[in-house]
Amino acid sequence: MTDSNCPATEDAPDQKQRHETELIQWLRIPSISSYPDHKDDTARAGQWLLDKFQRAGLKTQWLPTDGHPIVLAETPPVPGAPVALVYGHYDVQPAEPLDLWTTPPFEPTVRDGNLYARGSTDDKGQLLTHVHSVCDWINTGESLPLQVKFLVEGEEEVGSQNLEARLSDLADQLACDCVVISDSGQYADGQPAITYGLRGIATYEIEVQGPAMDLHSGSFGGAVANPAVAICHLISSMFDETGKICISGFYDDVRPIEADERERWKQLPQDESEFAKSIGVDQLFGEPGYTADERRWARPTLEVNGLTSGHQGEGVKTIIPAVAKAKISCRLVPDQDPGKITAAIQAHIDANTIPGTRVTLKADHGAPAMLANTDSPYMAAAAEAIRTGFGVSPVLIREGGSIPIVAEFQKVLRCDCLLLGWGLSDDNAHSPDEKFRLADFHRGIAASRELWKQLGQCRVG
Ligand code: BES
Ligand code: MN
Ligand code: MN
Repeated sequence: MTDSNCPATEDAPDQKQRHETELIQWLRIPSISSYPDHKDDTARAGQWLLDKFQRAGLKTQWLPTDGHPIVLAETPPVPGAPVALVYGHYDVQPAEPLDLWTTPPFEPTVRDGNLYARGSTDDKGQLLTHVHSVCDWINTGESLPLQVKFLVEGEEEVGSQNLEARLSDLADQLACDCVVISDSGQYADGQPAITYGLRGIATYEIEVQGPAMDLHSGSFGGAVANPAVAICHLISSMFDETGKICISGFYDDVRPIEADERERWKQLPQDESEFAKSIGVDQLFGEPGYTADERRWARPTLEVNGLTSGHQGEGVKTIIPAVAKAKISCRLVPDQDPGKITAAIQAHIDANTIPGTRVTLKADHGAPAMLANTDSPYMAAAAEAIRTGFGVSPVLIREGGSIPIVAEFQKVLRCDCLLLGWGLSDDNAHSPDEKFRLADFHRGIAASRELWKQLGQCRVG
């Protein structure tokens, strides 16, 4: 007998418990990809996943790289049906500041239906929804209606460069009709979304060098340029007072937002003053003429991620610091090229360097923005799967975050992309008290299971 309050997609309590227990095990492994002293932990998180796939009988492969390993797995081919490639990452961001966590980041804890841990929403918890749905399916002894491949890396949070370098060599093995990624969010609580666009990214370190050593600010002040002041001058010269970027050429290639796209976004239930309140500011700020969603999803930005110079300890220390440094990230939109942005920033620096200082710009490799095809039958299949798992039709949105490898997938694998996010905007990704709502974890598993059914009915050719 079935309980009418319980949708047919709902898992039994012991099954749900097992799904959670396994996630908790995985979250205990502090796989911080950017910290060299966590190299073994990071590999251990990859190994945990490999073991999980092997226990379910998937064909697996462990791919060491110059950085962290790549985990590959696949179910058997199904002739005539599409191939789905699930991509995700087992690495996480650093957890500092640790004292702002209610419970320690790598001791997963459930409070009020939320699982708190670094990586819970970004991305172990979200990724595991697909791992569970596939492994459970196989464990019942039934075969899946399509082939599912998994590509899970340990370097997404540091830019995915080793995966990018390998992608062409892996192209045959990864051949697929659509990539499935759950590493984004719902539009709002109770309003799931399919994301069809992500911003690209370019990151930098700017160093302003002044005197050869810290100097007494009394003996030398007034006679030499202060690098801390010089870097403030340099950074503020990059913006006007409204937040628009003043670097010559920065907006040159920006693709304008289509009128009908703006119209559709205006229909979304966004309340900008609520949004401001939820993040603790009294009002939003940014480039005039655009809504907050437009600015977050389809306009480029330059943000200072960190700024350091001189004395940071207690009390007075009267110096002119020898150096000042800034860490910067730019978010890029379709048609902007990370290399051209680097050249524009370099030219701006050259024109705005305070005499008596030397400025160096160190650029990372960067990734362009992506836009997915919204007309494919795979999109319709995904929408149906979300309706089944969440009980609500998804809205179509873009997001401001970046998943560096997705534009490469489109280029090298020539596949469609389905970005099906189960997270919430208050999940605190990259922040203290990161969490994932357990109800969304279980809905994600149900949606994933339905996705395989729906995609299995799509014909290829
Ligand atoms: N999952 C995020 C990307 C994301 C965030 C997508 C919000 C959609 C909405 C991913 O793990 C991430 O944080 N990426 C980094 C990439 C960077 C470190 C190269 C980012 O966006 O900062
Ligand atoms: Mn992520
Ligand atoms: Mn992240």
